[in-house]
Amino acid sequence: MTQAQLPGQPHISYRDQVLTVEGLASPELAQRFGTPLFVYSKASMLAALAAYQRGFAGRKAQICYAMKANSSLAILQLFAQAGCGFDIVSGGELARVQAAGADVSKVIFSGVGKTRAEMRLALQAGIGCFNVESEAELEVLNAVALELGTTAPVSIRVNPNVDAKTHPYISTGLKGNKFGVAHDRALATYQRAASLPGLKVVGIDCHIGSQITQVDPYLDAMDRVLDLVEAIERAGIPIHHIDFGGGLGINYNGDTPPEADALWAQLLAKLDARGFGQRQLMIEPGRSLVGNAGLCLTEVLYLKPGEQKNFCIVDAAMNDLPRPAMYEAYHAIVPVQADDTATATSYDVVGPVCESGDWLGRDRTLAVAQGDLLAVLSTGAYCMSMSSNYNTRGRLAEVLVDGDQAHLIRRRETAADTFALESLLPNG
Ligand code: LLP
Repeated sequence: MTQAQLPGQPHISYRDQVLTVEGLASPELAQRFGTPLFVYSKASMLAALAAYQRGFAGRKAQICYAMKANSSLAILQLFAQAGCGFDIVSGGELARVQAAGADVSKVIFSGVGKTRAEMRLALQAGIGCFNVESEAELEVLNAVALELGTTAPVSIRVNPNVDAKTHPYISTGLKGNKFGVAHDRALATYQRAASLPGLKVVGIDCHIGSQITQVDPYLDAMDRVLDLVEAIERAGIPIHHIDFGGGLGINYNGDTPPEADALWAQLLAKLDARGFGQRQLMIEPGRSLVGNAGLCLTEVLYLKPGEQKNFCIVDAAMNDLPRPAMYEAYHAIVPVQADDTATATSYDVVGPVCESGDWLGRDRTLAVAQGDLLAVLSTGAYCMSMSSNYNTRGRLAEVLVDGDQAHLIRRRETAADTFALESLLPNG
């Protein structure tokens, strides 16, 4: 494995054959914090954000980090300090934004199933906007706002019926998906929203899917949304901001998504051409801000040659890195100590969890020995945030590297942490 094969990450590279995150060699991080371990590069996250900021230079735009991708407090703090707002999908995520000390007025609240309690919390906190996903939700939000004697700022998430050309589980903008209000119901829904005294229409929203690697679906969705903005405004309802969601993909396995600034150059050209270039814009990127900034260090516990397959059994598992098991997702797996002379063998890289679905990579050519360290790459997004305690495995520690400093931003969970909320039955 040479540096050129690491998925597009200048801050994660081989130096003297050793995988290095910013200024720190990963074997030392493993030694100091143990394995399995999530390691993130701060510079890499800020570089990803800078691409969006460059793209929006001279425009009115608010970047709301979709924190479901990685909601660790220090990461929220980092993005808040860099000027981001947040896209949240639960009361829990709102509490995290508050705990990170971020500005709640820059929060937008997405999701098809907001509860009344969550709506109340968000209204009391003073969030910027609710992205309402159904006509029924509109009525409930109106009632909750009136109970509190306030008005709720709303956008309606419209479903543009555009194919994002991504994995079906993470495609959200098609008619068959549960998300948003159908394009042909959108105008009527806006008219209803404008008539409700507990609501104030402030924007329009759309999000068509995740890990999108092509520009066309975005351009198509934008046309559909702008058609609606024109129709809604013709009906006398002003739309203050336009939210184009998130979804930009990253390079996992030779994928070639556009850079954020290149994508936005094309989208802004369309906005300009249609006369919307000076409108307040919002976006909700998640994966593209954090995905390639993270890796997971894992130790090879055993090599197990077999008749049909060789297994490389590591100490990270599907509960830590659920994407392969859930979506058959590909994450590159590389040795921490590069050795071009060692003989490589094909392995399925698997974890200790008692499921055949517990694999991290299939048919990977690796030159490894028991006790070696491997790195599972591009694990900054949707790994820690989707991890679980299955098999009573404590969640991993997380370390954020900043130059030659390593900050432990989450300590490793102990077994006692995993059952701290449980109680035994009373005896007798
Ligand atoms: N906005 C909304 C309303 C969303 O539903 C999502 C992601 C985002 C923004 C951020 O999308 P991103 O920029 O990260 O693509 N667990 C899956 C991905 C699920 C995405 C869910 N929604 C995975 O690991 O691939």
